[in-house]
Amino acid sequence: MRVALVTGGTAGIGAATAQALQDAGYRVAATYGSNSDAANRFSKQTGIPVFAWNVADFGACREGVARVEAQTGPVDVLVNNAGITRDAMLHKMSDEQWREVIDINLGGCFNMCRAVIEGMRERRFGRIVSMGSVNGLSGQVGQSNYAATKAALIGFSKSLALESASRNITVNVIAPGYTDTAMVGAVPPDVLATILKTVPVGRLATPAEIARAVVFLASEDAGFITGITLSINGGKYMP
Ligand SMILES: NC(=O)c1ccc[n+]([C@@H]2O[C@H](COP(=O)([O-])OP(=O)(O)OC[C@H]3O[C@@H](n4cnc5c(N)ncnc54)[C@H](OP(=O)(O)O)[C@@H]3O)[C@@H](O)[C@H]2O)c1
Repeated sequence: MRVALVTGGTAGIGAATAQALQDAGYRVAATYGSNSDAANRFSKQTGIPVFAWNVADFGACREGVARVEAQTGPVDVLVNNAGITRDAMLHKMSDEQWREVIDINLGGCFNMCRAVIEGMRERRFGRIVSMGSVNGLSGQVGQSNYAATKAALIGFSKSLALESASRNITVNVIAPGYTDTAMVGAVPPDVLATILKTVPVGRLATPAEIARAVVFLASEDAGFITGITLSINGGKYMP
């Protein structure tokens, strides 16, 4: 049984992904940052074990992956899903808002990939899928920090894809559009209504619609797909 590890896998897109991978026959582990009530509820509902650590912390990622692997066996599929927003116009953005987003969204991806890549190379199999964003492709007002991290994931993933292809490891990005999760729940309703007018499909994505694409990219069938960014945005932006 293949093992999948989903960061931020206890809420929103990550929870839907962890569930979809379990439904597809994977042994799944999910990580979270600090909301242990939500994580424990999710674990109780699904039977998926949950682990808490900050993906921005290099050492914690190494130790965390070791703890997961002791319970599940080696990680075959890594989904870098944990991410945050700290929106502000650049002329009002604090150093802390910049750094937090860079450290979690981009640093977290490096830390987690670094923790699993040697094992994947030795075993000559791996699937890495990282959660980008439509706003990393199009840019967005108030999100220079967030968009920078999501765009950077693409260059990172293309490079790692080139380094890893000969070892049967694929590395891809999914760039969701606006999806019905707590992250979007934090957007003021009037702003969200304006955003929805720019989505040709006329609605938010469901987390399950993003999760299905992760399951596909994680599969054996997707072995020839590497270094791509798959947009799932209801037609909002066509790169
Ligand atoms: N929702 C959208 O419209 C949308 C669109 C495009 C891209 N995305 C991307 O999709 C991903 C998931 O988004 P979402 O809306 O599902 O988010 P969400 O509902 O806010 O869930 C985020 C998850 O990440 C975890 N997390 C946050 N910071 C962490 C940290 N430092 N270390 C470990 N885990 C951490 C959270 O755990 P705790 O709750 O315990 O902190 C939670 O499990 C993100 O990368 C986001 O940028 C979302």
